[in-house]
Order: sequence, then C-alpha cells, then structure tokens
Amino acid sequence: MGGLRGVGGRGLLLLSLVAVWAPVSSRLVYVEENLPLPGEEAPPGSPWPLPRNWSSTPDQLTLDPATFIISSDLTGCDVIDAALHRYQHLVLIDPEATADPGLTLLPFLNVSVISGCDHTPHLNLHPDYESYTLEIALTEVAETEGAEPVLRASAHLVAHTVWGALRGLETFSQLVHIVEPEDHYRVNVTHVDDVPRFPHRGLLLDTARHFLPKGTLLQVLDSMAWNKLNVLHWHIVDDQSFPYESRIFPNLTLHGAYTPRHVYTQRDVMDIVEYARYRGIRVIPEFDTPGHTQGFGKAFPHLLTPCYGDGETPGTPKFPYHAAYENLDPTNPQVYDFLKAFMVDLKHTFVDGYIHLGLDEVFLSCWSSSPVVRAFMARNNYTEVRQVEKHYVEKVLELADLTPINYVTWQDPAERGIQMANTSVVQVWKDVSLSPSKMRGWRDYVHDLTQAGHQVILSSCWYINYITYGQDWRNFYNCDPTDFQGTEEQKALVLGGEAAMWGEYVDATNIMPRLWPRASAAAERLWSAPLSEAPSVDTAAYRLDQHRCRMLRRGVPAQPILNGYCGEWEVPQDVMMSTPPPTTTTTTTTTTTTTTTPPPTTTTPSTTSTTTTTTLPTTTTTTSAPSTSEPMPPPLSEPAGHQQTENQSSPGDIQQHPAAAHTTQVTPTATHAGVTVNEPAEGVPSVEGAVTL
Ligand SMILES: *[C@@H]1O[C@H](CO)[C@@H](O)[C@H](O)[C@H]1NC(C)=O
Ligand SMILES: *[C@@H]1O[C@H](CO)[C@@H](O)[C@H](O)[C@H]1NC(C)=O
Ligand SMILES: *[C@@H]1O[C@H](CO)[C@@H](O)[C@H](O)[C@H]1NC(C)=O
Ligand SMILES: *[C@@H]1O[C@H](CO)[C@@H](O)[C@H](O)[C@H]1NC(C)=O
Ligand SMILES: *[C@@H]1O[C@H](CO)[C@@H](O)[C@H](O)[C@H]1NC(C)=O
Ligand SMILES: *[C@@H]1O[C@H](CO)[C@@H](O)[C@H](O)[C@H]1NC(C)=O
Ligand SMILES: *[C@@H]1O[C@H](CO)[C@@H](O)[C@H](O)[C@H]1NC(C)=O
Repeated sequence: MGGLRGVGGRGLLLLSLVAVWAPVSSRLVYVEENLPLPGEEAPPGSPWPLPRNWSSTPDQLTLDPATFIISSDLTGCDVIDAALHRYQHLVLIDPEATADPGLTLLPFLNVSVISGCDHTPHLNLHPDYESYTLEIALTEVAETEGAEPVLRASAHLVAHTVWGALRGLETFSQLVHIVEPEDHYRVNVTHVDDVPRFPHRGLLLDTARHFLPKGTLLQVLDSMAWNKLNVLHWHIVDDQSFPYESRIFPNLTLHGAYTPRHVYTQRDVMDIVEYARYRGIRVIPEFDTPGHTQGFGKAFPHLLTPCYGDGETPGTPKFPYHAAYENLDPTNPQVYDFLKAFMVDLKHTFVDGYIHLGLDEVFLSCWSSSPVVRAFMARNNYTEVRQVEKHYVEKVLELADLTPINYVTWQDPAERGIQMANTSVVQVWKDVSLSPSKMRGWRDYVHDLTQAGHQVILSSCWYINYITYGQDWRNFYNCDPTDFQGTEEQKALVLGGEAAMWGEYVDATNIMPRLWPRASAAAERLWSAPLSEAPSVDTAAYRLDQHRCRMLRRGVPAQPILNGYCGEWEVPQDVMMSTPPPTTTTTTTTTTTTTTTPPPTTTTPSTTSTTTTTTLPTTTTTTSAPSTSEPMPPPLSEPAGHQQTENQSSPGDIQQHPAAAHTTQVTPTATHAGVTVNEPAEGVPSVEGAVTL
C-alpha cells in the first residue's frame, strides 16, 4: 500500500515492543507481554502451505520491477497466459519497491509445462497432476572460453501440467518478499520439489442460508488459489433459498430466491466456473435431495411430500421433527422425471465431472406421518421408513449413472450400505463433537467407509463456521484425514478433505476474515506432509501469520492469529479508506456531482481529488488477467471485516465473563447443513425420531 507509507499507528506499538528501531524484513513483529512465544520464527518469504521439499540458502537475489519478467515456453495457452499476467503483479506487488543495489539481479522466471496446455481441471489421482519443481539459482558462468566467470541468477519452474505450474507460480510469489524500510525485493536461492498430498482440497461455501455476491465468490476463489485449494464445493441451494437460476426451470429462482437480487444467473455461474478454471479450481455444485428441498418446493410444491404434523392434515409441521413440507415425495414418479431433466441440464453449466447429490439428513418422520408414503411402504412390503429412503437414493444414483454424472454424496447413504459407483466420493461430516449421543468419532466413519471400499473426503474436523475465542485454527491444523486405524489400502482411499463454511451466520460482511487464515490450516494439512511429519503447530503459527499478512497485502481482510503488526500494509485503515465516501465536504461534493450532473469545473479543487485518489489502495488490479474471456476479478478491498460486531474481549475479560470465551457454542444439538440433528425428547415414540444414526 504505497500511498499509506509512513501513516501513523505503528508508533505506540513500537514503544511497548523494542527500545531500538531495527529494520524489519517485511515480517510480522510479535508482541507477547508475559510469555515468550514457543516455536521457531519463520524467515521472511516463508511459503504456506509448506512445500514437501523446500531447501533454501542464506544467499539472496533481488528483482527489478522494471525488468523482471515471468515467461513460459508454452504459448497460446489461456490458463498459462492469464497466470503469467496475474503473478507478474502478485510478485511485484508493491509499486514503490525497488531492486536492492547490493544484490545480484534475478532477471526472469521461466515456466515449462511438460505435457502442454490443458483447459479444465478435474479429479486426477496422479501425484504429478499438480507437482512442480522450482529452482532459484545463482551460478558462475564463463561467458566465453577462458573468460572470468560471472555470477548469473536464474529461476526455472517445471511442471507436468498447467495446474502444477499454477501451484509453482504461487510458491514463487510467496518466496519473493519485500524488505522494509528500504523496500527492496528479495528472494533467497532456493530449491523446491513439491507435490500435493491429496488431490481433493476443498472449501464448502453455502449460498442458501445467506446469499454471497458474485464478487465475494470471485475473491474467495483468488484466496483459495493462494492457499493451493482446488475444489469449490458450492452448496448453492437449500431449504432457505434457491438462488441458482436453472435454464429449464426458471421459476425455481422466481419463487425460491430470497429476492430477484439474490440470484446467480447462468451468466454469473459460468463466470464463476470460468474464474475458478483459470485458477485450477474445480467447482462442484451441490443439489441436496430428498431433504433440504424446501427451496425446490417453492416452485414445485407438488414434488414434496405434505407432512401430517397433526396426524390428519396434509401440509402441517411438527417442529422440531419436520416442517409442513420437508422432503421430495419418493412415491411420485414426476420427482424422478424432474430430477433427470434437472441433472442433465446441470452438465451444460458446470464443467466438472462431479455433482454433489447431498442425500443427507432426511427427516424421515415427515414421510412416516404421510398416509401416501405408508401406503407406498405397504405396496412394496417395506416395514421401515428407512427402506423408503433407500428406494429414493437408489433411484437417484441410477439416474446419475444414466445421465451420466459422477457424484459426491454426504456419508449418510454409504453408511447404510447403499451401493455406489466406484467413481463416487463420500464426504464424512459426522463427528461425536456435533452430537455426543447420536454420532461416533469421525475416525470410525472414515475407517468403516474405506473398509467398505468407498473413496472418502473428510470435513468433520474442519467445520470452520464454528468459531471459538483464540487460535482455533490449531485444532484444524492438528486434524489429519489419514489419522485412523486402517490398512494402507484404506488410507489410499482418502482423497482429501474440505473446510466447510456453513452460512447461517456468515455473509459477505464477515466471510473473508472468518475464512482466512483459519481455512489455511486445513489447506496446509491437505497439501503438505502428514501431521506426524509436520512442523509443530507453534512453529507453523509464525508462518501462518506471515501468510495472513501476505493475504492482507493482496487485499483479503484475513483476521490475525498473533499479537503484533504486519509491516506497512495493514488493514483496517486500508480497507476502510477504500470504501466509505470521502468525509470532507469538498470531496463529498466532488463525488456526488461526478455521479449526477457534471460539476462546474471551477468549484472542483483538483488538489482535493488528488488527495482522495492517493489514499485508495493500489492492489485492486493485482489479479486481473489479460484474457478477455476471463471474468473480471472482484475489487480486492471489499468492506468486509470491520463491520463484524463480534465481542472483542481481551483475555482479561474472559476471566470475568467466561461466557465470552465462546462466540458460538457448539451445542449438543449441533447442525449440519443448517438443520438441527434432532435429539428426540424423552418419551417421544422412536418412530418420530427424525434421525436414527
Ligand atoms: C534467506 O536469507 C537470509 C539472509 O541470509 C536469511 O536470514 C534467511 O534465513 C534466509 N531464508 C530462508 C528461508 O532460508
Ligand atoms: C527465460 O525467459 C527469458 C525472458 O523471456 C528468455 O530471454 C530466456 O531465453 C529464457 N531462458 C530459458 C533458459 O528458457
Ligand atoms: C524430498 O526429498 C527427499 C529426500 O531428499 C526425497 O526422498 C523425496 O523424494 C523428495 N520429495 C519430492 C516430492 O521431491
Ligand atoms: C413452475 O414451473 C413448472 C413447469 O416447469 C410448473 O409445473 C410449476 O407449477 C411452476 N410453479 C409455479 C409456482 O408456478
Ligand atoms: C409383497 O409380499 C407379497 C406376499 O409375500 C408378495 O406377493 C408381493 O409380490 C410382494 N410385493 C413386492 C413389491 O415385493
Ligand atoms: C471402476 O470400475 C471400472 C470398470 O469396472 C474400472 O475400469 C475403473 O478402474 C474403476 N474405477 C475406480 C476408481 O476404481
Ligand atoms: C460482549 O460480551 C459481554 C459479556 O458477555 C456482553 O454483556 C455484551 O452484551 C457483549 N457485547 C456484544 C456487542 O455482543
């Protein structure tokens, strides 16, 4: 944030910190008052997630922003062309930083892609799908035979695929750092051999409980790429709203969206999928059925089973076991026709081979209350309502196979032994911490599902919508998806995991600081070495806070995890200055008049305009790509973060008010996908218990 250089706010902190001003290498300065922080500090330019092999030396090079260039031997490849452009800006992020005259110049980074261009990322279990080697070297070369050798710096990135090249570019952009206060670019002589541990490294966003504007989603995609996450699991619709505009059933949004403003048009969705593609991110939409379908029911009420909450009237609720309409009607053939048409059409919009079918948390007590469903059971000789669920699930999986689409499902049907295609992926979400009386530990589920031969991704320990005071990212960091008792074959079936940000208490105002850097903890576990070989969480903390500062510099309002400050580019000043209207009367006049009628030029003091302009952050274009087909990036300084109204207690407050320690309590009736997992009260007939886990 060049324009903010020297702006105050740092002085006070410094006084309490060190008596002597020592130049800081663009690193975090930590302020711990009573206890030293355990762990080892990370040198500037430490990457997150940690590469598998990262060997760096104390030798340093410098970059000259006027001449440094990233280029590739692979030309005419849209993904690479756009990435070179993006990373040119991300590497040289500070418009005021310069080359260090005392160091050897690194003139270029050359990018080689062995297998040539590719346009669409997909699930690929080959380790080289995203691997890369990065060599930043300083070598002695003799220009001609017998001549004095000279030192030459070079940087080469070699990847098998364009997706590996993207990951390597990200690492390079993190290794380059700026030394303050001189503002010099530096990068250490380094060798990186990197390969992701898991092929599925996801983030779930929920746009049904709260709508997230397209710009926010694009910003999330950028920040995902900066954490090497490669799957956006888009929980796009649910009971609360249906913002997805279907091409063939437009009245789904007409009746199901909160308002016409809360809609993702086909164009929006395609832009988002395209923006993700350029970043090597797959977009897997989730259309959860037969439960969580009240959103579908707004336009298609006849496809839902009317529940008989009072025992005799169709369409009556019985809270908390079910609403008036709760599930698709498994007895209605039109339901399957509708789903078939809907699924076929999805293939037009979403390019990834996988669709998430949900299939979780069916509130069976609605079905069992219905005489129609009971008659259906009798006709089919079903004695339990679970068999109705099985009937439904099998029919839907059959439709998926015919369509054909590959599918991810929540763990529920697989747990009950329903057969699935061998390409299917089962997402584990349950854990004893969500429901002590109904659920087992996630390790048991992963064990059982992999033993049954299912490919699995884990989310149970990464429900990042649950927040607690302090460094709860440590819990996310300490969770490892293969940390269960099982054979090597079972562990090989674990494809990765997803951090899940359910949307009940999250919208555009708070999603970015709540996501980052907490989701980064899961991102490192999914990319880097297993927990047993990982640095201690105390040591990781320094590197994570450095990464958090890097995200701030790139315009993402990521929340802090340690005390201290991030060099010269901190929010909230930057974020706030970018958004509110200018406060002085003169500038307000300027702004208003320019957007309405042309102002009399003589009354617009140009000096005022200039002042306003220079206080704006300069990073808003850092990720724009040259390709015309790529959607425009979001403004990187959205007004997120500072609007959060959460209790900002200090540790001292907590001792007096223990309740303040947990901003959100994980209650025994915790929720998955927003619906309470019912723990029936004593005396309720067991047939009414919605979920028997
Ligand atoms: C980079 O070089 C500097 C200066 O020699 C050194 O202090 C720092 O530890 C090095 N960083 C890494 C990651 O090796
Ligand atoms: C690397 O890229 C630079 C700048 O595009 C080019 O001049 C140079 O020949 C390339 N070097 C190699 C080894 O590919
Ligand atoms: C990392 O280094 C070790 C030891 O040198 C080597 O065995 C391993 O194959 C390397 N891993 C990668 C991904 O290059
Ligand atoms: C929505 O459209 C479908 C036909 O595509 C129709 O059957 C249904 O009644 C419509 N819903 C409403 C509420 O108009
Ligand atoms: C149900 O059971 C009856 C009696 O055993 C049998 O005749 C009938 O075919 C069964 N129906 C179905 C759908 O399985
Ligand atoms: C699934 O089965 C097909 C045919 O039976 C086989 O070719 C394929 O390799 C299997 N895929 C996986 C992921 O096991
Ligand atoms: C902050 O926490 C205190 C103590 O629990 C509570 O009394 C107060 O209402 C909270 N304020 C906000 C804004 O949540």
